[in-house]
Amino acid sequence: MNQIDFPDILKDYGQHHILDHYSRLAPDKQKELYDHTAGLDLDLVFKLHRDRARAGDASSLSVEIKPSLIVPIPRTPEGMGRHAAARSAGESLISADRVAALIVAGGQGVRLGHDKPKGTFPVSPVKNKTLFQLFAEQVRALRARFSSRMPLLIMTSRENHDDTIAFFASHNYFGIDKNDVFFFSQGMLPTITPRGELLLKDDAHLLANPDGHGGSLKALATSGLLTHMIDLGITELFYCQVDNPLVKIADPVFLGYHASAKAECSTKVVRRESIDEKVGVYVSLNGKDTILEYSDFGGRHMRALDEQGEILYWAGNTAIHVLNLAFVKRLNDHGFALPYHCASKTIDKPGPDGTTRPIDVWKFETFVFDAIPLAERTCCMEVDRREEFSPVKNKTGPDSPATARRAMVELHRQWLEEAGISVPSKTKVEISPLFALDKEELAEKLKEKTLSLLEDVYIEEIS
Ligand code: UTP
Repeated sequence: MNQIDFPDILKDYGQHHILDHYSRLAPDKQKELYDHTAGLDLDLVFKLHRDRARAGDASSLSVEIKPSLIVPIPRTPEGMGRHAAARSAGESLISADRVAALIVAGGQGVRLGHDKPKGTFPVSPVKNKTLFQLFAEQVRALRARFSSRMPLLIMTSRENHDDTIAFFASHNYFGIDKNDVFFFSQGMLPTITPRGELLLKDDAHLLANPDGHGGSLKALATSGLLTHMIDLGITELFYCQVDNPLVKIADPVFLGYHASAKAECSTKVVRRESIDEKVGVYVSLNGKDTILEYSDFGGRHMRALDEQGEILYWAGNTAIHVLNLAFVKRLNDHGFALPYHCASKTIDKPGPDGTTRPIDVWKFETFVFDAIPLAERTCCMEVDRREEFSPVKNKTGPDSPATARRAMVELHRQWLEEAGISVPSKTKVEISPLFALDKEELAEKLKEKTLSLLEDVYIEEIS
């Protein structure tokens, strides 16, 4: 191979520094760089760079914003009745093998600073189970409870794909039939400087970043898994992110509301803790349900209060969704429909002498919640933060392993107390998904058992 073979596009876009580097490489390294570059969508990244002024543009915020209609947490007998009906509709979907669960785990997890895939982070308070184990055990329990073949899909990135598969294999897929666990990798996009230069990560690779959690909806199609799921008869995809250990995988109540609204994309939200909480907000924008990132929402709306002095736009994004698969297919039918956002970051770039220097870069990515306004029908449901949302983002402080562990202990303590078992205040509790998926199941099972709560409590039943 010689320089003439190198993608012409690099020349067209003036990437002479990469071509010069390439010309100095030994043939085997040239091939590696060539193959790596050929696998990246350079046309797309240069187009996004050109359009950057429009990408992620907040100008649409001059249009009409209103609170959305949201299914509330039930507090009346009617509300409880609607929830019970939704639960039974959702359970029927699971029993009929129409639901798959997707966990997106392709992120880089920079803030947590765990040098392995984020899902391998040990998080549970007593047994130190990993995030992946907690999710996989829920799927295993659902499959057993509803005699369902519910597939588990894990989206990885090129950077953590092999490690993720090896982790599941070494734990025997946490008891799920391995033929029903699917791994697929999201796309990568070259990272680019504001001046439009590509960068080298090392001798044989361009610097690139995963294309965002929205990339899951593209990679499902490009990997062939979308067609495979549809062929299996799956119609609804439960979606969540790897960093929330409280997530209720394939919650039947949520699935039921989604199905009865004939929604294409549904979302769970929690009340924002304060006007300053940095969370995406679920609103109606020009009559269409939408999630706006806090940075795009604008201080005036973020701080707006209603007549009772409560936060007007209270619905904070949990990143928990159900997507109809025909809708996901439509998003891919004429090129990928989600818009790309540009994140400006400063990174440390290694120089030839081994030292690093800060450099500004742009990373382009898509967000899964941008699917919401593209759906013909949507559904949004409020849930209690203490029961369903405690993401692990940072090493310490807010949204860290410590806050997630505390939230799990508090939740499971609550479940036990509602089942009539009082838990001494310093006792740590953890209830395995293999024993009970929710407080109702726990109460039912504890009718037949007596517990000793002298030590940290861990309850598990192996089937
Ligand atoms: P975050 O935006 O919190 O990113 O992703 P992160 O990678 O976990 O952490 P930082 O920002 O590097 O510290 C939210 C969820 O979306 C997934 C992540 O794995 C996490 O579950 N994600 C994010 C992807 O799967 N792919 C991406 O390209 C980005």
